[in-house]
Parts: sequence; C-alpha cells; structure tokens
Amino acid sequence: MDKIIIEGGYKLKGSLKISGAKNAALPILAACLLTDEVSVIENVPRLVDIYTMIKILKALSVKVDFNKDKIVVKPGKFSRYIAPYRLVSTMRASICVLGPLLAKLGHARVSMPGGCVIGSRPIDLHLKGLKFLGANIKIEHGYIKAEAKRLKGNVVYLGGAFGSSVLATANVMMAATLARGKTVIENAACEPEIVDLGNFLIKMGAKIEGLGSNIIGIEGVKKLKGVKHKIIPDRIEAGTYMIAAALTGGEVDLKGARPEQMGVVIDKLRQSGVVVKNKPGGIYIKRTRRRLRPLEITTLPFPGFPTDLQAQFAAFLSLIKGISIIREKIYPRRFMHINELNRMGACIKLERDSAIIEGTNFLSGAPVMASDLRASAALVLAGLVAKGRTEISRIYHLDRGYERLEEKLSGIGARIWREKA
Ligand code: EPU
Repeated sequence: MDKIIIEGGYKLKGSLKISGAKNAALPILAACLLTDEVSVIENVPRLVDIYTMIKILKALSVKVDFNKDKIVVKPGKFSRYIAPYRLVSTMRASICVLGPLLAKLGHARVSMPGGCVIGSRPIDLHLKGLKFLGANIKIEHGYIKAEAKRLKGNVVYLGGAFGSSVLATANVMMAATLARGKTVIENAACEPEIVDLGNFLIKMGAKIEGLGSNIIGIEGVKKLKGVKHKIIPDRIEAGTYMIAAALTGGEVDLKGARPEQMGVVIDKLRQSGVVVKNKPGGIYIKRTRRRLRPLEITTLPFPGFPTDLQAQFAAFLSLIKGISIIREKIYPRRFMHINELNRMGACIKLERDSAIIEGTNFLSGAPVMASDLRASAALVLAGLVAKGRTEISRIYHLDRGYERLEEKLSGIGARIWREKA
C-alpha cells in the first residue's frame, strides 16, 4: 500500500487554492436524483468519496460524467432504487441518497451503513425524520426499506443526544422538497454545507426558508428542475492548511477560503497568537510569535468548533507550552490520532471525552498509521514540523478527503511525497 513520506522542519510560504467542499458536494450529488433533468455541479473535488457517490448514482442507472472539476448528472427516467452494501459500506455519506430516492420514486433500499472508526454513528434521526413525513420504514437483511406513495409535510424535531445532525437534516430537507404541504425541521443543522445544499435545491425550484438557522421550513413542490451550481470551498481543508502554516512558522495565503465559514477556527488561532487576516477572496495566515498560547476547545455543531478539525488542532496544540484541553462533544471517541501523536513525542492523555495536551518542545518523525480521514491529516501536520522523517501508512483515508495534498503542500515548501508500495 502507498505511503506518504515527510521530511519535517520546513517553513511553508506561498499561496494555495482551497478545493470544493466534499461534505457539500456529496449531498448535492444525491439531490440531483430529485429531478429527471440534467444538473451540472462545478468545483467538485477529485476525491475517493466523490467517486464512491458517482458509483452509487451509476448503480441507480443514472448517467454521470466527471471532467476536470465539473460533474454532469443525467438522471433521465431512472428507476433503480437500491444503494448496495458494497458501496455504502465504504462511505457512510451514501445514506444521503435515501431521502431523494424515496421522494422521487416512492421507494428506496439503502444498505445500513456500518460502524465507523470515529465512534458509533447511528441513523435514527434520518429514519425518524422520514417516518414523520409519512414513510413506511423497515430494516430487513441489512437494508433500509423505505416506501411512501407521496410524502406529506410535517413538523420534525431532529435533535439527538449530541445535538443536530448534518446529513439527517440533508436527507429530510431533500425529501421534503417533493412532499405534499409544509415541513418544518426543528433543531436543523446550520452548517455551511447544509446552506449550500439548500441553495442548490432552491435553484432547482424548491421553496425553502430559514437556511443557516436551526429552523428550516420547506414547502413541497410537484417537480424540480436540473440546474448549474458551484460547490462552496472546503472549510475543513482550509483549516487544516491554516494549522500547517501556523505549526511550521510560515506565511500562507489560502485562496478561496471563506472567513465567514470559519469564525471559531480563526478566533482560536488568534487566541493562541497566530496572525489571521481576512483578504479579498481568501485568508492570510502568519506566525510571528515564537511562543504561542495553549487553548481550550469544545467541538460542537456549527457555528461551534468543528469536530472535523479536532485532530488537526491536537497536533497543533501538542507543540504549544502549557496545558491545552480539547473536549469532543460530537464523537466522544474520536481520538484514534492521540496514540500515534504520542508515538511522535506528543504528551496527550485521554479522560473520557477530553484530550489533555501538555505541550512539548519538539516532535520526532516516526512510522505512523492513519486511522481515519482527519486523524491522517493530524499526522501529516505533525510530520511537517517533526524532526526527521515521518512515514504515514494507510493513506487511502487521506485520499477520501484531501485533494492533491502532497502537491499542494510541496507547492508552498513542504518536503512531502508519496511512495508506491
Ligand atoms: N447522530 C445521531 N443519530 C443520527 C445521526 C447522527 O445520534 O441519526 C449523532 C452522531 O452520532 C453524532 C452527531 O449526531 O454524535 C452528529 O452527527 P452528524 O449526523 O451531524 O454527522 P454526519 O452528518 O453523519 C457529517 C460529516 C462528518 C462530520 C459530521 C459532524 C458529511 C459527509 N459528513 O456527518 O464529516 O464529522 O457531519 O460535523 O457531511 C469528515 O468529513 O471527516 C466527517 C466525518
């Protein structure tokens, strides 16, 4: 299997372009199923998860072309309604075809997504929401079997033990666009990716209000049309490169990054002493102070601190003198990166859902293993600043969520490359 090799200790300097957001593109591609007409999605990142979603659309007999960063989806009168285990088992986000299939065809069979290395990831809220819209749902032979002649609007409270759910909101919002009457989603997710999906649906002809707030209203329509849409930039990719710049003592311009999607991340970096400036069309980041300050961070739904940047911040804070604390309130067991960071010399202890980080003077390069997408990103960040050589194996996780990672980082001065096994 391929490995990523990093020679640590080089400052990053220059500019790089942020790719389109994976977590906006995935539900938007699923939303293309809501119409027979052709949709054109631009600024789509070339990532393994995107290819998986394309395979799912093709398994549903939908035609899909991916050229450069543009995907053309031609559903036509597609009639297949089964999202098979072999695809769903590789990507949990496949669940977001459930709502569109049910709304468009009146029935869907989607394999139950399995467990996941970042912790238990139930789908009860997805099913609750669709049941409230009148769907008859059974779990049979590992598949979700959902049926409804025409869905009917309703008021649905979508909060779980850990607050709102991003993809449950996406699923119910998509299904409600073609339901009879009005749906109100209470405790809806406010994430920018949900706003992007909502804006796409509105272009298609959906009637949606309250996007970006925790109450979303959807007035069902009979039909939606195919449209053209450009995916928003990836705030998690941007956050990862902001930390790379701060960790290595560099100076980087992130073209396309949107400060309004990243308030808490910018605030935390500034609190620690990193210079972050909003520039027209991007974000500029520079580390001037030799000594940064430790932080306390709690992950929460948007606009709170994103769980998808928790691992990367753990790498960052492991080199800041003093005690930092990270509380993980979305996935309390999402700490697979901690042991690997400790193998590189970090001093991090776990207590329940918290990581207690005692800053050390340096990390040292080591062979490490990626366990999930964001944990892998944390190891890359640690490798960029560690003394000597870091070898990261199981890098297929990185290819799920970071477009041309080695190329982008080498372009601003990192010594990073991929070795084929
Ligand atoms: N939850 C439930 N029941 C449900 C659904 C979720 O209890 O039916 C719980 C989850 O277990 C978790 C919390 O609600 O504790 C929030 O999970 P959410 O449903 O919001 O996660 P998701 O929609 O499955 C998306 C992203 C994740 C990201 C989370 C949280 C996509 C494709 N995935 O997942 O991204 O961590 O929101 O922000 O949008 C990643 O990109 O690395 C990634 C894991």
